[in-house]
Amino acid sequence: MKGIVLAGGNGTRLRPLTGALSKQILPVYDKPMIYYPLSVLMLAGIRDILLISSKDHSDSFRTLLGDGSQLGLNIEYAEQDEPRGIAEALLIGADFIDGDQVALVLGDNIFHGPRFSLLLEDAVRDLDGAALFGYRVRDPQRYGIGEIDEEGRLLSLEEKPRHPRSNLAVTGLYLYDNDVIEIARNLRPSARGELEITDVNLAYLAQGRAQLTPLGRGFAWLDMGTHDSLLQAAQYVQLVEQRQGEFIACVEELALNCGFITPEQCLHLGEQMRGTDYGAYVTEVASRRIPRPAVRAA
Ligand code: TTP
Repeated sequence: MKGIVLAGGNGTRLRPLTGALSKQILPVYDKPMIYYPLSVLMLAGIRDILLISSKDHSDSFRTLLGDGSQLGLNIEYAEQDEPRGIAEALLIGADFIDGDQVALVLGDNIFHGPRFSLLLEDAVRDLDGAALFGYRVRDPQRYGIGEIDEEGRLLSLEEKPRHPRSNLAVTGLYLYDNDVIEIARNLRPSARGELEITDVNLAYLAQGRAQLTPLGRGFAWLDMGTHDSLLQAAQYVQLVEQRQGEFIACVEELALNCGFITPEQCLHLGEQMRGTDYGAYVTEVASRRIPRPAVRAA
C-alpha cells in the first residue's frame, strides 16, 4: 500500500501564523504538525509516501524530511498549485499510486489511541473498496457524517447534514483500493469548486464497498485548523507525553518499532537532537534495543 499526506491548503483560519509558513509545518508542542499524519501512515506499515504541499512550501518539507531514508522511508514530493479539493490528491498521486492500494491522510489531523496499529493492520488486510474511520462528535452538523450497520458497512453519508442520522464523523484518513484512481478521474467539482473526498466515498457507498470503523471511546482525533484547536492539540500532546513518558508521533521510534531502521540508526538520530527531551527520548528507546556487552565477574 502507498501513502499520501495531503499538506497543501491555504490555512486561512490560522492567519497570520500561516502568512509565511505552511500550516502543516507549524509546531505542535515538540514536533512539526506533519509528523502526526506521517506517523499514521508508518503505523499502517507504509514506507512509500507522497507528500503533497503547495508550491510555496514544498522546500521546507524537503528540508525537514528529505528523501525519508533516515527513517527507512521513501518520501516523494508533489505540488498542488491551488487547493482544489482533497480528492485532487488522488489525481496528483495517480502515477505514484500506480497499481497499488492507497492510504490518504490529511496533514492537519492527529490520531491517537489504544490499539490503533491493530485497527490499521486489520483495515489494510481486509480492504475491499474504501475503509474510513469514524469519530463520535457532539456537533455532527459541522462534519461529513456516516451511518453504519452492525458490520461497520456504510449505509449513508452526508456532508454537514442539517438533520444528522448519526453523530459519526468521517475522519481525515481514507484507505482505498486501486479503483480510486478511476473514481477520482470521473469527479466533477462541487458547488464550491472543489473535488470532494465525500464524492469519492459516495461512489464506493453506491457499490456497497465502503466500511466506516468507529474509533472508540478513549481515542483522540483532533484537527488543527484554528488557533484554539492548534493550541488544544499541543496541550494534549504535552499532557500525554509528560504523564506517560511515551511520545506521540515520534517518527524515529515508529521507524524503529516498524523495523524500518536499526537501533543503531535510531540512536544516531537521537544523538543529533542531543540537548532536547525529544532527542533524549529517541536515544533512550534506541538504547533499550541495543544489547549491552555482558559484564564478567572478576
Ligand atoms: P482545510 O482545513 O479544509 O483547508 P486549509 O488547510 O486550507 O485551511 P483553511 O480552511 O483555514 O483555509 O484542509 C484540511 C487539510 O487538507 C489540510 O491539511 C490542508 C489539506 N488540503 C489540501 O492540501 N488541499 C486542498 O485542496 C484542501 C481542500 C485541503
